[in-house]
Amino acid sequence: MPEFPAVRPRRLRATAAMRDLVRETDLLPRHLIYPLFIVPGAGVRREIAQLPGQYHLSADAAVPEVAAARAEGIGGFLLFGRPPAGGKDAEGSGAWDPTGSVQQAVRAIRAAVPEALLITDVCLCAYTDHGHCGLIKAGAVDNDATLPLLCRTAVSHAEAGADVVAPSDMMDGRVGAIRTALDGAGHSGVAVLSYAAKFASGFYGPFRDAEDSTPSFGDRRSYQLDPGNARQALAEVAQDLAEGADMVMVKPALGYLDVLAAVRSATTAPLVAYNVSGEYALVRAAERAGWADGTALALEILTGIRRAGADAVITYHAREVARALGRR
Ligand code: PBG
Repeated sequence: MPEFPAVRPRRLRATAAMRDLVRETDLLPRHLIYPLFIVPGAGVRREIAQLPGQYHLSADAAVPEVAAARAEGIGGFLLFGRPPAGGKDAEGSGAWDPTGSVQQAVRAIRAAVPEALLITDVCLCAYTDHGHCGLIKAGAVDNDATLPLLCRTAVSHAEAGADVVAPSDMMDGRVGAIRTALDGAGHSGVAVLSYAAKFASGFYGPFRDAEDSTPSFGDRRSYQLDPGNARQALAEVAQDLAEGADMVMVKPALGYLDVLAAVRSATTAPLVAYNVSGEYALVRAAERAGWADGTALALEILTGIRRAGADAVITYHAREVARALGRR
């Protein structure tokens, strides 16, 4: 093997043109999925305290946001909803209300920006009065009784015009149940993005504040994965693909890059990583303290997530990064 001075790796880094030529990993706006927090009402655009730069948007206000992000080249949108004040109940029935905030937003965006790729989060936690992702029976989350409710929610999103539904509840068997329900309702063209490897994480804190979805008792460790378990994550991915998931997700991203890389080698399916709310909040907090350039950190973090194997990344940095990439 030749050695220094014949070998000089710096030749490949000497100029911007050379670095561009040999770069192995691209980060482009089309790789980014932008999460949107839809709230009831009209004309609402309210900054979320725990997620600076992110907004609670009513359905009408989401339309210009999506149009602007599309113009920046953003690849897709992930919509979360909330019921009206006093609208939570034991079942989370607001989740499948055809006039719910997500359903309204999907219809409004679909009409105004027809080419936008719309993904809806399918879960009950923002709609249940106890804040869990499933139905409570005898003090515990009842897996099988939850499945029909998730199916109704997914079908209501498809009916409104979603391209992709993304179950984030972590109940067993939900991907197969949702696939069957979609097909039965005439929505065989709607894809399923499964939150397959979703870990029980402290990094969801700002999201739960924004969605008012913190469980009123206990935690989510009986359904979300234990952070120590990578083999279980691979088994969840295999199971969801066998049940018909079109795409799979690893979430969170930063503490789980090894899982992302392992899933990448284990499957040919499109792989999505979720750069979650707490990961975003850390960057914004460091920026506010004057300790870092937040956008530079975001570019590096998202490149790392892509390098680990993600085809697409769900990130609150999406628009900021798309604009920064456009300036390069
Ligand atoms: C709903 C859901 C959560 C997130 C996405 N869907 C919260 C949770 O499971 O508690 C977290 C997203 C983020 O933190 O950015 N089940």
